[in-house]
Amino acid sequence: MSSPIQPSSSSHKLWGGRFAGGPAPELEAVNRSIDVDFRLWPFDIRLSKAWAAALAGAGVLTEDEAAEISRGLDVVGARIGDGARPEPADEDVHTLIDRLLHDAVGAVASRLHTGRSRNDQVATATRLWTMDACVRLDAMLCDLQSAMVAQAEALEHDVMPAYTHLQRAQPVSGAHWMLSHFWPIARDRRRLSAAAAGAAVLPLGSGAIAGSAFPVDRRAIQAALGFQAVSPNSIDAVGDRDFIAEVLFTLAVLGAHLSRLAEDLILFGSSEFSFVRFGDAFSTGSSMMPQKRNPDALELARGSGARMLGDLVALLGTIKGLPSGYNKDLQEDKRSLFDAVDGMSLLLPAIAGSLATLTFNRDRMKAAVTSSMMATDLADYLVRKRVTFREAHGAVGRLVREAEERGVEMTELPFASFKAACAAFESDVLTELLPATSLGHRNIEGGTGPEAVQRQLESARKALV
Ligand code: ARG
Repeated sequence: MSSPIQPSSSSHKLWGGRFAGGPAPELEAVNRSIDVDFRLWPFDIRLSKAWAAALAGAGVLTEDEAAEISRGLDVVGARIGDGARPEPADEDVHTLIDRLLHDAVGAVASRLHTGRSRNDQVATATRLWTMDACVRLDAMLCDLQSAMVAQAEALEHDVMPAYTHLQRAQPVSGAHWMLSHFWPIARDRRRLSAAAAGAAVLPLGSGAIAGSAFPVDRRAIQAALGFQAVSPNSIDAVGDRDFIAEVLFTLAVLGAHLSRLAEDLILFGSSEFSFVRFGDAFSTGSSMMPQKRNPDALELARGSGARMLGDLVALLGTIKGLPSGYNKDLQEDKRSLFDAVDGMSLLLPAIAGSLATLTFNRDRMKAAVTSSMMATDLADYLVRKRVTFREAHGAVGRLVREAEERGVEMTELPFASFKAACAAFESDVLTELLPATSLGHRNIEGGTGPEAVQRQLESARKALV
């Protein structure tokens, strides 16, 4: 038999009176969340100050007591800011701050945890942290978009192939390709702002489950902490983690977008494509092959997409099937949230930097636009001369095959071949085979024509706020 588990020593606790002994060290070890939630401290202090003021407003604390607690919370903030760190016995960030508050102001600290629970406290602190994180992430997304716009501006008059099925499809402006990665990020920013609004609902005042028994002014707390609304149901408020799911979904989709951008660039950076060269500051070498210039940040972006997705699935798995109200399972929410936000916060500046330091090989891009990519334009040309598209498609198809068989570009076929394929071809057909002509036909809104791209660039610049 192993020796009986020793109860732990008399550490600072927010609970325990109803137990004869202390918790087993094994329980303490698994229960402790300070390593994960320590970062909530500035928000826990802010909400605690608002709570102290609300308790004074409700007549639970005297104004002097509230002022003393508030002063003490500032001292706690300064101590942690100066490097005070949790002790092994601190269960979570709320316990830590309570202990430090006792150190700072003595017994009056014990009055703060009145009418509130860590259940409404942690939900409030996590929401505040999330609102703040959304602002930081949005700024990084805006930086990434700026790098995209700068590259798009530089590529406005350069032509390159666009691909479907990763096969050369039709010529586009380089700016059009670049901005095709800009708009998904614009949508991500909209989702992020919706997620931030979802987080901005105040749970404090919900107590453990049934609502605080003291008449605190929740609207005043809402205003003091910058929330947009007050939660309408205390049971829901302490168990609701939808706001985390919304952020994680947003980051999972963003991860997918970054992964697709990264994949384009990795491909374009290969010797086979050589459309781009990765900047020195954002390339890594190989320990064995001296010639290597590897786009590690982009590959990590591609890889991180999977992690963001995992974080979302872990959170959804945690909340599915939980009974209503707070359950300790919910302590795991912050692991997923912080992991995804941390991952993105590392990634976004690295992607923006990788993008900003790319050099495009415009000649290679242009050279990859072959005449067969104008086959659709040729068919459209015939349609303008009243040939049906079906007939035109067949005629151009025959021309493509003929060029292929002769091993020449379509531009090198004799005019007689065009005439034989379809009588409607006239001598102006050669201009139809120019990429610039192809682009020029596509000034439709959202198309790759020069004027359309110019307008698109303008809207992209406007979206940079
Ligand atoms: N550390 C806990 C969490 O993150 C705080 C809430 C604890 N609530 C409780 N009833 N034990 O969820």
